[in-house]
Amino acid sequence: MKNFISVNDVDNINALVEQALKYKADPFADKQLGAGKRIGLLFLNPSLRTRLSTQVAAANLGMEAIVFNVDKEGWALEFAEGAIMNGTTVEHIKDAAPVLGQYFDILSVRTFPSLQNREDDYAETVINQFIKYAGVPIVSLESATLHPLQSLADIITIQESRLSVSPPTGGGGGGGTGKPKVVLTWAPHVKALPQCVANSFAQWVGGWNETEFVITHPEGYELDEAFTKNATIITNQDEALKNADYIYVKNWSSYKDYGKIISSDTDWMLNIKKLALTNDAKVMHCLPVRRNVELSDEILDGTKSLVTQQAGNRVWAAQAVLSEIVKSM
Ligand code: CP
Repeated sequence: MKNFISVNDVDNINALVEQALKYKADPFADKQLGAGKRIGLLFLNPSLRTRLSTQVAAANLGMEAIVFNVDKEGWALEFAEGAIMNGTTVEHIKDAAPVLGQYFDILSVRTFPSLQNREDDYAETVINQFIKYAGVPIVSLESATLHPLQSLADIITIQESRLSVSPPTGGGGGGGTGKPKVVLTWAPHVKALPQCVANSFAQWVGGWNETEFVITHPEGYELDEAFTKNATIITNQDEALKNADYIYVKNWSSYKDYGKIISSDTDWMLNIKKLALTNDAKVMHCLPVRRNVELSDEILDGTKSLVTQQAGNRVWAAQAVLSEIVKSM
């Protein structure tokens, strides 16, 4: 694996999931693999889980991780080609990225979309410029449109849950297919959020092909079809939730009316009443979560929630990815 930007960088999802679960069972199995290597974690936006889980993963592999909060501590970076830098930006990515590439063996980057200009955001300019100019492998810690480490952890969590249920496929809501029914549902939120987690989850689950996959959202919240072609899309949430084995709750802003909140329908918040429609579904969320806006306390504090396990699995996802990159260096 050269870079880790999306599911397209992964040859075999099941093998990567298996490796992650091996690391979960034995975190220090490859404690010398990253010895003498250094990873830079560059944050252009805030984080709790991604930052700390990647640091822990690197430490488990014997690799040194150095965090740089670019947004708070670095020079303001310019990404536009041919920019006349007489404004607020101080350093061009063409100059900064090769320097960072001299300091680190791997660079990882978190950057959020502007939610102002869809074409710019979906061009993934920031992450692509790091790939172009750094000269070392690049790992996405969430980019303008995707969050691949989150999605890998999500699939690890579903697989782990399936393996803990017999028969081995787990679930039973997949319309007799033997595959679990996974429903990604839009939820209300007070802020306009990126489409990254939803895009990425759809891309990974679609590529994994081990589930019956349904996406449900109010009219106007359609995601980019490039990511949803393997999903069934239903705008009636109750209908979508019927017989679900796993429900992934997430807000996103409109892709069509780009970056806008076009509905705040509180009826879309997942609660215990809605869970009754499902096949005793387990509930997922990437965190951070707005309690009693996106998901009710009773679900988050109850036995159906996988969210803490899911966040814990971020370590094993990152460790599996970093190990693949180091092995290919
Ligand atoms: N889920 C996730 O990426 O969490 P952080 O934003 O805290 O890293």
